[in-house]
Amino acid sequence: MTLSAPTSIAAISLTGASVSYGAGPVLGPLTLEMNEQRIGIVGRNGSGKSTLVALMAGLMSATEGQVLLEGFDPARERKQALRAIGVLFQNPDRQIIFPTVDEELAFGLKQLDHNDPAGAVQALLMREGRADWAGRSVAALSQGQRQYLCVMAILAMEPRTILLDEPLSGLDLPTAARLMARLDRAPQRLITISHDPKILSDYDRVLWIDQGLCRADGPPAQVLPAYERTMAQLAMQDADTDLSA
Ligand SMILES: Nc1ncnc2c1ncn2[C@@H]1O[C@H](COP(=O)(O)OP(=O)(O)OP(=O)(O)O)[C@@H](O)[C@H]1O
Ligand SMILES: [Mg+2]
Repeated sequence: MTLSAPTSIAAISLTGASVSYGAGPVLGPLTLEMNEQRIGIVGRNGSGKSTLVALMAGLMSATEGQVLLEGFDPARERKQALRAIGVLFQNPDRQIIFPTVDEELAFGLKQLDHNDPAGAVQALLMREGRADWAGRSVAALSQGQRQYLCVMAILAMEPRTILLDEPLSGLDLPTAARLMARLDRAPQRLITISHDPKILSDYDRVLWIDQGLCRADGPPAQVLPAYERTMAQLAMQDADTDLSA
């Protein structure tokens, strides 16, 4: 008797998945699997990157096709999705809903029915060297600190995958470096959208999204130079257009 090999379930799989708001799709159709520990996503403004993030996290359903997170539909199984995936949005102020650091950090844990959210928040702040943030008003934090608060809120929930949608926008260089170093240490799978190819250069895989479709998909050493060349050419063309206007 031969035993068939166990079928492995992809961390994320898209099968003919697309998103439309009206006329044509703004994303897809895309068919791909994501399993690597460090995956980067690049692409121009409006190319569909944040839409892809929303789809993978189950924050929206595909108009056509199928999206599976660890084998289930993340748009339907919301609680399971919260355990599987965390999202750092482009703008921390869209993410934070509570007035104090403690409440913000405890919120996700309560959603997961944690038996001691307050204790877990205290332990997390200690571990992160931010014990003095306990009870602090979110309004009194700088943008970089609020971004870090969002990262802590995600880490508290211990998802297996973290989606980072331009995590460094608006941060100064030292703050950005500190945040990326913290995230790089995380044992989780990271899927990072960035306009800065440098932070993706040691990733396992990079996807280049262009007008909603995957224009390139491979190791950073292959994808990033082609992406940077094209962006530089487009910048030159746009500059010429402006000068001749
Ligand atoms: N709610 C919506 N209704 C209609 N169109 C939308 C909506 N949300 C996004 N779009 C369109 O979908 C396309 C992809 O948007 P998306 O936010 O995914 O791009 P992006 O690659 O994340 O861009 P950026 O780099 O600027 O963040 C854009 O053309 C945008 O205008
Ligand atoms: Mg975006």
